[in-house]
Amino acid sequence: MDRNDAPAYPVGLRLAGRRVVVLGGGQVAQRRLPGLVAAGADVLLVSPSATPAVEAMADAGEVRWERRRYTPGDLAGAWYAVVATDDAAANAAASAEAEERRVWCVRSDDAEAATAWTPATGRDEGVTVAVLTGRDPRRSAAVRDAVVEGLRDGTLVAPRHRARTPGVALVGGGPGDPDLITVRGRRLLAEADVVVADRLGPRDLLDELPPHVEVIDAAKIPYGRAMAQEAINDALIQHARAGKAVVRLKGGDPFVFGRGMEEVQALAEAGIACTVVPGISSSISVPGAAGIPVTHRGVAHEFTVVSGHVAPEDPRSLVDWAALARLRGTLVLLMAVERIGAIARALVEHGRDPQTPVAVVQEGTTAAQRRVDATLATVGATVAAEGVRPPAVIVIGDVVALEAGRA
Ligand SMILES: C[S@@+](CC[C@H](N)C(=O)[O-])C[C@H]1O[C@@H](n2cnc3c(N)ncnc32)[C@H](O)[C@@H]1O
Repeated sequence: MDRNDAPAYPVGLRLAGRRVVVLGGGQVAQRRLPGLVAAGADVLLVSPSATPAVEAMADAGEVRWERRRYTPGDLAGAWYAVVATDDAAANAAASAEAEERRVWCVRSDDAEAATAWTPATGRDEGVTVAVLTGRDPRRSAAVRDAVVEGLRDGTLVAPRHRARTPGVALVGGGPGDPDLITVRGRRLLAEADVVVADRLGPRDLLDELPPHVEVIDAAKIPYGRAMAQEAINDALIQHARAGKAVVRLKGGDPFVFGRGMEEVQALAEAGIACTVVPGISSSISVPGAAGIPVTHRGVAHEFTVVSGHVAPEDPRSLVDWAALARLRGTLVLLMAVERIGAIARALVEHGRDPQTPVAVVQEGTTAAQRRVDATLATVGATVAAEGVRPPAVIVIGDVVALEAGRA
């Protein structure tokens, strides 16, 4: 084999405190310096000029900048060199000096003459991805992007064996569309041994889990309603104590009518570490998916998210419906399908205009999404006549009447 065709030998350089010489202060230096600084290298930049970004790094004391051209001897004491001036003769001379001194050297103008190549690199949570394809830097970048992206969104399953997130992760799964979970949530799901899932949320993601993952359907835990939360807490605690990586997957955001804090408190009492990963709440995303912004300039300066799980006249209700009726902005009701007639009546009785537009969005962001429009005066009857079923988000206010394409 021709010496030049031999594959590069990959290695991770530990440059902290070690001298690295960068020749040239242009675009190449601008791209390489942040990584060298992050690696803790003692960087000497030799260049008569520099880009503003490189200059800023020098001003910040991250690199030492000598404003001059390369002179032989500059590589004395270096462990690694980046040769990237706009002067081919200087590059060749510096490269020869590097060879002479046995300093690994990358060269921007002549990869074949270099003794080292810079891989396309990316990082994700303690993993460094470095890709070399020889003479195809675009392919290197594409492979790097695919791997880093896959690690970030959990589609590339690479469980941690040394340092897995201990305890329980309380993950907000978003409103239902599997693409609407956070990158962190998806990664934790990909690393889980046990997943305790709600009825709402991105249930499609459960199908993608490897067979060894135990999926517990929280809706099917066999206790009465009052006991169910305790049983869920117990399941989380038992599995975490058994050393499993547990994900509690919830719909929307864990802290928006999600009983998330009850689980956090139960875990804290049991001495189990808990990570909370926010999710996209249905209260904003479901209206949005149906084309309704919860605020709009000149229309609504506030939106209020309210639970409708108890009727206005119910003594257990903590909601001041009279105060809500006086607000001009948007009301977003969750868990209100069964009681929307009584809620609408209460709002009108307390002064909200009966002609206020209302939209009911069922199973938002999923393939079954549907939107039913009404007014405060008609919504109770419309919901019954149309057979609207939970889960649905009900939006009340002038934002409902806004249409795309109309200012
Ligand atoms: C117990 S609450 C949980 C809310 C959740 N934590 C959140 O932030 O979206 C359940 C209610 O959220 C609303 N909901 C959640 N997902 C929905 C969806 N995909 N479409 C319509 N409503 C949804 C419904 O009002 C449902 O009754």
